[in-house]
Amino acid sequence: MRLDVITIFPEYLEPLNVSLVGKARERGLLDVRVHDLRNWTHDRHHTVDDTPYGGGPGMVMKPEPWGEALDAVIGGAGADGDADTPHGAVDGGPAPVIVVPTPSGVPFTQEAAAELAARPWLVFTPARYEGIDRRVIEDYSDRHEVREVSVGDYVLAGGEAPVLVMVEAIARLLPGVLGNAESHRDDSFADGSMAGLLEGPVYTKPPAWRGRTVPDVLVSGHHGRIARWRRDEALRRTSAHRPDLIEHAVPQEMDRADLLTLAELGWVAGSDGRFGRTPGAVEE
Ligand code: ADE
Repeated sequence: MRLDVITIFPEYLEPLNVSLVGKARERGLLDVRVHDLRNWTHDRHHTVDDTPYGGGPGMVMKPEPWGEALDAVIGGAGADGDADTPHGAVDGGPAPVIVVPTPSGVPFTQEAAAELAARPWLVFTPARYEGIDRRVIEDYSDRHEVREVSVGDYVLAGGEAPVLVMVEAIARLLPGVLGNAESHRDDSFADGSMAGLLEGPVYTKPPAWRGRTVPDVLVSGHHGRIARWRRDEALRRTSAHRPDLIEHAVPQEMDRADLLTLAELGWVAGSDGRFGRTPGAVEE
């Protein structure tokens, strides 16, 4: 997979040389190219921002450097030439997805990470200031797939940290990046046996630490009971930390033991086919 990042702080992306992503690069699984947006400015001060039309606080990133940078990085690749193949590659080459980090974007989820991990080429455009002149997003949306994405309901000083977050979430899903192919099967938010639930607690050796022991079931060797215990812990943690996920769960997809555990936690399936909490339910 190829990843391009266009930024005014290339050094902010140094962590992409480290750990999982760094190793994936060394092993040739990821081709990461970080570009300095100021290379596409032409004034003495390498200006990338200007005051907003309509007034207001802050500055807005000028369209010209972004346009030149994106044209240089993407070239003619993958531009739509045919209305029948939206965002497809006209020349059979890879079609890039342009990912624009912004707090006003669509929430970045595990599902979005999996979708992006299946694409051959991502181009990230982390902005500073109040964001990028809207015409840039509109212009590239005419020819490419552009996704405006938020990593959470809070405002950061720029999109570089969100790029690090997204690249790590995407890279670990690429074939061959994680040592054990099963490693993300039980991730919180992953498909599979824990679909839609948060992952419960984990333990390793020693069996006793500061007087605290490991739950007996985990050393019982009884795979069925271990799986049941893990699922109950996932239900408990999800109920405590993310009740919204239980509210959106489908009761028909739960087994009898799930329903019992949820009932202990105060959740019952209502006439609308969704779980609701009984008043005065026990909190974790
Ligand atoms: N830039 C600033 N805040 C952001 C956020 N929450 N998500 C993505 N990009 C951002």
